[in-house]
Amino acid sequence: MEFTELIAARYSVRSYKPDPVEEPKLQNILEAARLAPTAANRQPFQIIVIHTANRKEELRRIYNRPWFVEAPLILCVCALSSQAWVRQDSRSYLAVDAAIVMDHMILAAADAGLGTCWIANFKADAAREILGLPEGAEPLLFTPLGYAADLPGVKERKSLDTLVRYERW
Ligand SMILES: Cc1cc2nc3c(=O)[nH]c(=O)nc-3n(C[C@H](O)[C@H](O)[C@H](O)COP(=O)(O)O)c2cc1C
Repeated sequence: MEFTELIAARYSVRSYKPDPVEEPKLQNILEAARLAPTAANRQPFQIIVIHTANRKEELRRIYNRPWFVEAPLILCVCALSSQAWVRQDSRSYLAVDAAIVMDHMILAAADAGLGTCWIANFKADAAREILGLPEGAEPLLFTPLGYAADLPGVKERKSLDTLVRYERW
């Protein structure tokens, strides 16, 4: 898909078919994550690929929406704070890096005809326990990965006038 078409076509999918995700498509999505830029190229993240088959009830403890576990796969971006780049004034760019990684995967998925939905409003404690995450690995973002069973709505966005300010010369 052409890039401008791709960013217009991507939307938050909140209903999924059970159809499997083809392995080459999954690998392309993970490769898109690997190629993401990160501050000082620290790459302070790990991605967890979760199969939903036979553990939907358990996984719903992480994010209690039926559509969270409908797709065959869920991806989790974990942030590794000890590896993050931190500016002199102590500002860590860990979350920025994780968001870029997620966006790469989400756009790669849309390009492959697959649906996703950013999820931040999950229960971090349940995620840590269920995924068996070690200290220092923070689950930051989830998305289901599968074929959409819904259709996009109208994109509601603020106008460029509101979002952009041209500095006066
Ligand atoms: C960082 C981030 C966190 C989000 N967390 C959630 C979430 O927990 N649950 C959810 O249903 N949608 C979540 N969303 C999806 C947004 O609601 C959605 O992207 C926004 O409403 C725009 O709609 P669109 O993605 O269809 O263009 C999140 C999006 C972002 C970027």
